[in-house]
Amino acid sequence: MCGIVAYVGAKDAAPILLEGLQRLEYRGYDSAGVVVSNKGLKVRKVKGRVADLAKVVPARFKGGLGIGHTRWATHGVPSDVNAHPHLSADERVAVVHNGIIENADELRAKLEADGAVFVSETDTEVLAHLIARTVEDTPSLEEAVRLALKSVVGTYGIAVIDGQRPGEVVVARNGSPIVLGIGEKEMFAASDVAALVRYTRQVVHLEDGELAVLKADGFHTFASGGRETAKEPLTVDVEAGHYDTGGYEHYLLKEISEQPDTVARTLRGRLDERFHIAHLGGLNMDARETRSFRRVKIIGCGSAYYSGQIGAQLVEELARIPADAEPASEFRYRNPVVDPDTLYVAISQSGETYDTLAAVQELKRKGGRVIGIVNAVGSAIAREVDGGIYLHAGPEVSVASTKAFTSTAIAFALLALHFGRVHDLSPADGRRIVDGLAKLPDQIEEILKQGDHIAELARKYATNPSMMFVGRVRGYPVAREGAQKLKEISYIHAEAYPASELKHGPLALIGPDMPTVAIVPDDELLDKNLTTLGEIRARGGNVLMVGHRRPDAKLADDSIVVPKNEIELDPILLTIPLQLLAYHAAVALERDVDRPRNLAKSVTVE
Ligand code: AGP
Repeated sequence: MCGIVAYVGAKDAAPILLEGLQRLEYRGYDSAGVVVSNKGLKVRKVKGRVADLAKVVPARFKGGLGIGHTRWATHGVPSDVNAHPHLSADERVAVVHNGIIENADELRAKLEADGAVFVSETDTEVLAHLIARTVEDTPSLEEAVRLALKSVVGTYGIAVIDGQRPGEVVVARNGSPIVLGIGEKEMFAASDVAALVRYTRQVVHLEDGELAVLKADGFHTFASGGRETAKEPLTVDVEAGHYDTGGYEHYLLKEISEQPDTVARTLRGRLDERFHIAHLGGLNMDARETRSFRRVKIIGCGSAYYSGQIGAQLVEELARIPADAEPASEFRYRNPVVDPDTLYVAISQSGETYDTLAAVQELKRKGGRVIGIVNAVGSAIAREVDGGIYLHAGPEVSVASTKAFTSTAIAFALLALHFGRVHDLSPADGRRIVDGLAKLPDQIEEILKQGDHIAELARKYATNPSMMFVGRVRGYPVAREGAQKLKEISYIHAEAYPASELKHGPLALIGPDMPTVAIVPDDELLDKNLTTLGEIRARGGNVLMVGHRRPDAKLADDSIVVPKNEIELDPILLTIPLQLLAYHAAVALERDVDRPRNLAKSVTVE
């Protein structure tokens, strides 16, 4: 949530900051601002998008030092005044901030009692005032920032400049990501490498509690106590082009369409066709340890949690190890019992979701063994876990997760195969799963070819105010993800229920203006699912069936037929048409597909 960019060097900072903010807009997009230093601080900030900000930044906005911000509001409504940067009263110090200062009210009251006058409703402004109080008397900006942070409780990624020290930026991190970019006689910092890769691939991730001082000729990092830390730069394996729409109308359609490739990348080098096993070296676990776990507990948020439900099903079916998924946001608050015989699996596309990260940290504190299934390489969760599986799905920019969801489900299939083959999954069943996984990229391609048919259905169903999604057992997480995709990008109210639960309550909602998307795979539950369709139709409900065969016209009004794989892997394919259905419904309703209202891609606040 919120994106930060900072620059110091010989070039003009403003165009670099604006470009970087554009790349970070997925993190928050209700207001944006920049400040550059050139004989004092010059600020522009607006309610709205980075494009709106660019319109008010004049061509003569010169200066080789600056910081910028794109906001997802937590304290105070989106407005010009609440937009970052926030300045001290004397306009000497400017701060941009991602995170939440929990004791902001208390600090604000103390500062006001000392005579400070606040202009915004934000928690961040407290920081500008706190730093300004000591900046005059401390030998460095770094020291003034460190002193200010001592009184702060909460999470932050910040960048700070001092109009009277024009050659340096100070950044600090606690719970919200900050990555430094190393250029040729120039330095950058940002919330995400997305803002840096156009300029450099050499990066350094700050750890919680660390602070860095950036000057054009390099950087120094310090632990919270002030001791200098040694950091090895990493070379990131992404290009600026990965963050473009690549000729598609929206990132979301690009990311849905990329899935044959991204799935192939998740599988690459991991399928062993000789022994019918999965190679997952990143788990850092030998066969003996792999056998030692008695349970698998999966945690993640939103779509990551739903992919975890597919994962739990796969682990139970293939490895016969009890497994379940829980929202990380709930898990972390319920003082969980951490069991030494359980393997904990944290899922996150961004690797920064605060609730998931906090749950991982809680598990580690209690001695739990945690692995990660993560897309963003080098992200906070990836660094915190004991081992894991990278998705290699490439940057996911659209707020709604699609390719990362699919690749996570595939990573679970690999994990379940790996566990299964050290337990009792036979070589024949191992081969069945290996062959099934290898078929997925082509089968996804087949589904994508139905784009026009699905778009037509989306236009038809998007006229309804609400939709029900149902699935049984393997189909239930698919239904949940389908409802999630639809509601977050089209704003159509969507509910997901286990098909078996319909008659215990929600059937009362069914009628002509509440159609049902029914997930009906060809598995041992087919007859039960068809009975449910009959019950919906008998109550005047329309049905769109997503499954492996054309339904009887008595049971469904419409259908999407997907290629059949192994029953354990079918949920992965059944999800793809639901992504397209949501996408085309959102387009039909003229929604902001890639940046739906009220949301942000990386939820780095509690
Ligand atoms: C997915 O479409 C959502 N935007 C959201 O639920 C997301 O999956 C969730 O916030 C978790 O994000 P993460 O995978 O980056 O941790």
